[in-house]
Amino acid sequence: MKVSIIGNGNMAKGIGTRLVSGGHSVTIHSQDEAKGKELVEQLKKVSGEADVKVVPIGTETDEVVIVATPYTEVENVGKEYNGLAGKVVVDITNPVDFNTFQLIPEAGQSGAQEVAKILSEATVVKAFNTTLAGPLEAGEVEGKELDVFIAGDDDDAKATVSELVKTSGMRPVDVGPLSEARHLEGIGLIQMKVQDQIGTGWMSALKFLG
Ligand SMILES: NC(=O)c1ccc[n+]([C@@H]2O[C@H](COP(=O)([O-])OP(=O)(O)OC[C@H]3O[C@@H](n4cnc5c(N)ncnc54)[C@H](OP(=O)(O)O)[C@@H]3O)[C@@H](O)[C@H]2O)c1
Repeated sequence: MKVSIIGNGNMAKGIGTRLVSGGHSVTIHSQDEAKGKELVEQLKKVSGEADVKVVPIGTETDEVVIVATPYTEVENVGKEYNGLAGKVVVDITNPVDFNTFQLIPEAGQSGAQEVAKILSEATVVKAFNTTLAGPLEAGEVEGKELDVFIAGDDDDAKATVSELVKTSGMRPVDVGPLSEARHLEGIGLIQMKVQDQIGTGWMSALKFLG
């Protein structure tokens, strides 16, 4: 599959690593050319075969787009990309207010549904918000494949994202419609809050066992 990733940070690296490992083509959309080039070099080291490049923000994207920016930047991303109209957009964000360390959306709502309102002509699928960047880069935790929880209202788009996850060496777990993203975002927040307590250096994973 051809996939665009908007952003060059921790999650762009983590998800990008999994995608190139799975033989997918990755285009990094980067605000900062040097950082984007550095990430491309890192991803090329993952696999000698890696088909990966960097382009400036605003360049036409592939059909599947992973928005790897802060939640609060999604509105700007919409402006930069004409609303990503017609694309399958993967919302990986954890919509957290870092002053209060609480979720930004009102109770019962989700950031993913807000993203779907902002990018109203795109098909939004929530995924990857509960997988931390380090384990994504490593590809496993304690020898076990990562679970990627997926929520969305469009079955075809969810099937596309599930296939991408599976072929990149992880297990897709469909948790239902986009409204269920509020639960994923809730557990995403808890995961962030307990990192110091559990002391795994942000290398833990949320997974169903058994
Ligand atoms: N880190 C994790 O383990 C983790 C886990 C699950 C979900 N998430 C979610 O994943 C998202 C990315 O997290 P991260 O850790 O990768 O953050 P990060 O390392 O800070 O990277 C954020 C990226 O967004 C880019 N960016 C910001 N505004 C932009 C805009 N308007 N247009 C294009 N690019 C823009 C930044 O570019 P510049 O550097 O050039 O400014 C940077 O490359 C967040 O929403 C976070 O909640 C993170």
